[in-house]
Amino acid sequence: MDPLIDAALRAREHAHAPFSKFKVGAALLGEDGQIYTGCNVENATYGLTVCAERVAVFKAVSEGARKFRRIVVAADTNVLTPPCGACRQILWEFCGDIEVILTNLQGKTESLRLKDLFPRPFDASFL
Ligand code: THU
Repeated sequence: MDPLIDAALRAREHAHAPFSKFKVGAALLGEDGQIYTGCNVENATYGLTVCAERVAVFKAVSEGARKFRRIVVAADTNVLTPPCGACRQILWEFCGDIEVILTNLQGKTESLRLKDLFPRPFDASFL
């Protein structure tokens, strides 16, 4: 199996999702080959929940990584789970038009580009 997909599936097992029971894993591949994983971390306030994708991006950025090749998002859904709107904005900020691979527990996969998931983004070019 693709090690990045495997990493996302394994990260999903660490999800803290007692409220939604909806576990998500993410694995972000740095330019140098380093893999940064994330899972969703929920909170009793609900609103403070952080998605798997953002956990992976923030872990990577906090460790000094700035260039990325692709991200895998893993969830247990038949229709593959895409990143939420907030995560698309954060992915655009740090990864630009990255390849986004969606997968599920049955091994179904789909490869997308972030620019197609997130057309006409607001970013630093407007500031
Ligand atoms: N979630 C993610 O972690 N990533 C996604 O791509 C979709 C949603 C989480 C947030 C929350 O913990 C749960 O899934 C249900 O929305």
